[in-house]
Amino acid sequence: MAVPVPGGRATWGSKLGFILAAAGSAIGLGNIWRFPYVTYENGGGVFVLLYLIAIVCLGLPVMLAELTIGRHTARNPVGAFRMIAPNWRFVGYLGVLTGVAILSYYGVVAGWTIGYVVKSAAGSLDPDDFGTFIADPALQVGYLLAFLTATVVVVAFGVKNGIERMAQILMPLLLLLMLGLVIRGLTLPTAAEGLRFYLYPDFGAVTVKTVIFAVGQAFFSLSLGMGAMITYGSYINKKDNLATSALAVVSFDTCIALLAGFLIFPVIGASITKGGPTLVFVTMIEQFNLMAGGRWVALLFFVLLAIAALTSTVSLLEVATSYMVDELGMKRLKAVLSVGAVTILLGIPSALSLGAADGLTDLANGKGFLNIMDFLFGNVSLAFGALLTCIFLVYRWGISNAAAEVQSAYPGFARFVPLWRILLGVIAPAAIAAMLVYIIATGEGLG
Ligand code: TRP
Repeated sequence: MAVPVPGGRATWGSKLGFILAAAGSAIGLGNIWRFPYVTYENGGGVFVLLYLIAIVCLGLPVMLAELTIGRHTARNPVGAFRMIAPNWRFVGYLGVLTGVAILSYYGVVAGWTIGYVVKSAAGSLDPDDFGTFIADPALQVGYLLAFLTATVVVVAFGVKNGIERMAQILMPLLLLLMLGLVIRGLTLPTAAEGLRFYLYPDFGAVTVKTVIFAVGQAFFSLSLGMGAMITYGSYINKKDNLATSALAVVSFDTCIALLAGFLIFPVIGASITKGGPTLVFVTMIEQFNLMAGGRWVALLFFVLLAIAALTSTVSLLEVATSYMVDELGMKRLKAVLSVGAVTILLGIPSALSLGAADGLTDLANGKGFLNIMDFLFGNVSLAFGALLTCIFLVYRWGISNAAAEVQSAYPGFARFVPLWRILLGVIAPAAIAAMLVYIIATGEGLG
């Protein structure tokens, strides 16, 4: 039985509010910035196919696992694991730490989106600017600070009045912008050529790495492996159906990732020469500059990216905040401000690692501080957290206890329990363990 936290605990205002907030967490730079270039670098259509398989077989069951742990315990990740099995609380701590770490460098890239909104509005988009932009210490730290401040403000308003209300406004706007930009892209003369790059499956490109990256992208994109969905799940009403909620969030996230491909590739067309992080910030801008009214299309595009990023940074911050509120009895405002301050400090070396400070740009075979943070936290730690969550649920808490939490609002879930057990107890751990071995052995993260 879930013991209520003294003093009551926030819940989402509605099931739709939760779905928008959780989809907001999932839909982020991972979908719009990373998914297209990782797809491009890994064989196009085949990668999309592998990604979809990973989403259905691994992402969906793990999403349901995290939401179920959260709703059952009504606590932050540390409290949640502690309540079911005190020895497992380290998984919660790992999640809190990982959230802060990811936020610190994710905030840097998120800051670029504001920078490019400003550049588009000023009409000063220049594809050759990117290198100087990311090497400018004042701009990098300034935009990081601006983005994290916005994140702090939303989270300070709380679950219902901050996170949910923001999602209710921004997610419909995101969808609208996305659809508008996709239509604009598809009507360009470059569309057919670009879509060929996106969807033509190059089966020769399938390697172990392709498969591993598809799995890693699925977990990152769904915000799994660090307790974000445990935390969001902890605010779900007892009467809501967890299985349909998980399905809705996963579908929403997947649709946006796929749509991002339909947005980016038609614009880029055949002009694509290399993938990587610059696909959006350099190649797209070259194309915007060729387009009639391209400056305004660019503006909408970077607003879209900024919205996607904000609804994700909010979820990263909420994990540590909920931990401090629940476990340390801190007031929300004080908790948010302290976590925010720590995150900004931790983000500064990342912000300066792209050319601004020599000592930070090349720490280990060409990788800078930001890359190393992403490798350690955005890849290794998330995989580790997801693996432990699966094992915990099936072999420690017990699948029937977890299933009971889902079935309380949805008795029909009974027929899916054996499948959920196999996916969580065998398939997902095997896939994640293989991914962990690969990324640690090769030192190659999604990056
Ligand atoms: N899913 C987000 C994206 O695609 C990023 C993100 C937010 C995240 N919260 C997370 C990733 C928690 C892993 C864990 O950009």
